[in-house]
Amino acid sequence: MEKAVKKEQLYEGKAKKVFATADPALVIVSYKDDATAFNGLKKGTVAGKGAVNNRMSNLLMRLLEQRGVPTHFVEELSERETLVKKVKIVPLEVIIRNVSAGSFAKRYGVPEGIVFDAPTLEFSYKCDELGDPLINRYHALALKLATEEELAAIEKYAFQVNEVLKEYFLHLGVRLIDFKLEFGRLPDGTVVLADEISPDTCRFWDAETGEKLDKDRFRRDMGGVEEAYQEIFKRVTGE
Ligand code: TMP
Repeated sequence: MEKAVKKEQLYEGKAKKVFATADPALVIVSYKDDATAFNGLKKGTVAGKGAVNNRMSNLLMRLLEQRGVPTHFVEELSERETLVKKVKIVPLEVIIRNVSAGSFAKRYGVPEGIVFDAPTLEFSYKCDELGDPLINRYHALALKLATEEELAAIEKYAFQVNEVLKEYFLHLGVRLIDFKLEFGRLPDGTVVLADEISPDTCRFWDAETGEKLDKDRFRRDMGGVEEAYQEIFKRVTGE
């Protein structure tokens, strides 16, 4: 496809900007190095993060497409920019967990690192003003955030993504602890995987050492943030 031309900016989020193109069905996503945590309370930059997240997310979206998960991905345009299908985001954060960590460990008073017998799925209502509260599928239906059919598709795809990525990362010596997905609606109503899959949205632990190779290093002021992003990028791309 011919390189798409960036037109007006449609949206700026915490880690990405979205631009219109000449084609109303397509937009360009531009990844920033900006990092936030705790609903924007903590702010910083992580040098090179935008390029890592863009390239890694595209690689994983391509893999998932091959394995039968429909995504918004169209074409990588540059280190930081990608052409994607324009979608209406379903206002749900879909979180899959294989091992206890983060808010799960905190909320239920358990240590991090407990391996679950089966993966869990939870929804948060994507709403910054409310701090993305945890909700269940009945609440999502009551709030008309998605239909029953859409929720069923989202749940099916989310577990499918987990199976594909868990195995993929294990081959790279990385444990996929948990991750967050977002889905969007195409104009015909089809639900596809959207947003990004990156160290911002996943927890990756080195399988040998347990070292964290994700945004928790930024959230928790652990240092070595840039290095962790570069390390996980190297495992994925071999570069
Ligand atoms: P949590 O344990 O803080 O709920 O995070 C679960 C997963 O979701 C973790 O891999 C990080 C990711 N995540 C996001 O991508 N965006 C967010 O805003 C939050 C809170 C978590």
